Amino acid sequence: MIGVIFVCLGNICRSPMAEAVFADLVEKAGLRQHFRIDSAGTAGYHVGEAPHPGTRRILRQHNIAYQGRARQFHRHDFDRFDYIIALDDANLSDLEWMGGGGKHRRKIHRLLDFARHTDRRDVPDPYYTGDFEGVYRLVLDGCRGLLEHIRAEHNL
Ligand code: 4NP
Repeated sequence: MIGVIFVCLGNICRSPMAEAVFADLVEKAGLRQHFRIDSAGTAGYHVGEAPHPGTRRILRQHNIAYQGRARQFHRHDFDRFDYIIALDDANLSDLEWMGGGGKHRRKIHRLLDFARHTDRRDVPDPYYTGDFEGVYRLVLDGCRGLLEHIRAEHNL
């Protein structure tokens, strides 16, 4: 199984959206059995909560189901996942600080490093901007590129 985890700050807006969108792409590609897909936050403020209403609305609009609850990223996730995908640069630095700077560093990427249709490298936080539709477009672009990248690396 290929483990992929998306990581943002609170795990209620961006990373659950990325987890759900990526899982949907994987499902549509018929590759579900090859993947373990999850998301987490670097902070614990919202542990146990369902996603933000803005994220739930976007997923509903795109017919994507999501059952997950917020959880905090743990150090053991570095061992459990092969692709650790940060939604922005602050999440990336936090992951490195938490212990991802050594042997795990090559697993950590920014989602938008895989995006084809934007020059942005950070997915802006809709908790502050309210722009969940803009986040969806960036997340979809990044997730499409990420899946292509993983398929190429694993001959899927
Ligand atoms: P997320 O958004 O990192 O995309 O889940 C946030 C959610 C909550 C907070 C910040 C960002 N907060 O400060 O509570």
